[in-house]
Amino acid sequence: MTDIDTRSLRDACGAFATGVTVISTRSAEGDHGMTANAFMSVSLDPPLISISLDRKCKMLERVREAGRYAVNILSSEMQPIALHFAGKHDPAFADIFEERHGFPVLGGASAFLLTEVVQEIEAGDHSLFIGRVRHLERDPAASPLLFCGGQFGELAPASMETRP
Ligand SMILES: Cc1cc2nc3c(=O)[nH]c(=O)nc-3n(C[C@H](O)[C@H](O)[C@H](O)COP(=O)(O)O)c2cc1C
Repeated sequence: MTDIDTRSLRDACGAFATGVTVISTRSAEGDHGMTANAFMSVSLDPPLISISLDRKCKMLERVREAGRYAVNILSSEMQPIALHFAGKHDPAFADIFEERHGFPVLGGASAFLLTEVVQEIEAGDHSLFIGRVRHLERDPAASPLLFCGGQFGELAPASMETRP
């Protein structure tokens, strides 16, 4: 057994391919969005999902204050939006949010889920926020944006050989 250094842990976990989401919420400070891939489905009945937020990010206090958040699952053409909400601000996206049931959401997302926070679990330098899903919408034709090894990607079309 060895000491685990942060860089090695990041690189090893980064080998796990994920989709990409933008977490969004509305608080007294206004609408806020943040790119996140630490998202998971937790329970189907009751309907629960979870996100993991760095204690240093602005989003954490916003979610605590609002007591709710939306998860927007990004489609393959939304990489510029993922960068915008990861700290590379692009003025073109300054007013990108639409509203659904009082939540800011992203049009063009593969899906979005609107949740109420039911539990916060402090875990090291992050906090997990378990949300109970109150509403969802999905575009069944959308193709997902992917993230692995620090790079964005998209699904390759199925090859002839893998087709039945
Ligand atoms: C692909 C990708 C995934 C990310 N996933 C997370 C995540 O799950 N949790 C997190 O706290 N930050 C994550 N980040 C970093 C935040 O998006 C970034 O720190 C952001 O600028 C924080 O915004 P805020 O401080 O305005 O809330 C991710 C960044 C990228 C590019």
